[in-house]
Amino acid sequence: EELLAGAKPLAGKKAIVTSGPTHEPIDPVRYIANRSSGKQGHAIAAALARLGADVTLVSGPVTIPAPSSVRIIRVERAEEMRDAVVAALPADVAVMVAAVADWRVASAAGNKIKKRPGEAPPPLQLAENPDILKTIGHHASRPKLVIGFAAETENVAANGRAKLERKGADYILANDVSPATGIMGGDRNRVKLIGRDGTEDWPEMGKDEVADKLAALIAAKLS
Ligand code: CTP
Ligand code: CA
Repeated sequence: EELLAGAKPLAGKKAIVTSGPTHEPIDPVRYIANRSSGKQGHAIAAALARLGADVTLVSGPVTIPAPSSVRIIRVERAEEMRDAVVAALPADVAVMVAAVADWRVASAAGNKIKKRPGEAPPPLQLAENPDILKTIGHHASRPKLVIGFAAETENVAANGRAKLERKGADYILANDVSPATGIMGGDRNRVKLIGRDGTEDWPEMGKDEVADKLAALIAAKLS
């Protein structure tokens, strides 16, 4: 009966989804960031909501609209994203789709950095950002299901499995984001589902279809 249109197998379940990039300020007018449209994360939040879940979507800066029927929390920096995700616990499932900047500028300038003719460009001292997926995967209030993505340009399966172990996730959806694949910024995706006891190759499909397939898996695991 879960297959009937309108079935709500995730009614009463709480989900947290991260999406989009983070922006890490250099000064008030400049930032460093990852490439991310937010399309896959937003689609997953929408798919979980369609199955009846109570969804908190923690999103970095994106240009796409928020799906209706999710609670959206907009953040800029990785540390803000981590704080919003932790504040949204407890939850039954967390899906970390955001392309979190791995580093922030150690001390962002309070005023715009000016060019100084004749002087070398300013050096940027970086500090490592918190790993949000790892934090949630090892949290005292860990959701029953913790799922991450792995954006790779080589050794997709091996790197994805290493992330599963390191971050304490139940599943990693690994994708090849090499420029030649055209995945980045597009509407389609091709992922490998890496679980504790095996790997499944999903064919290339729309990001909405990846979201529906993942939401169905989550519903099956939580029922
Ligand atoms: N992630 C996170 N917080 C971070 C970095 C990554 O929550 N600071 C999450 C991403 O949302 C994704 C997963 O971890 O679900 C893997 O992200 P990825 O960038 O592929 O992995 P990293 O551990 O950062 O490794 P690297 O970038 O060096 O490949
Ligand atoms: Ca990273």
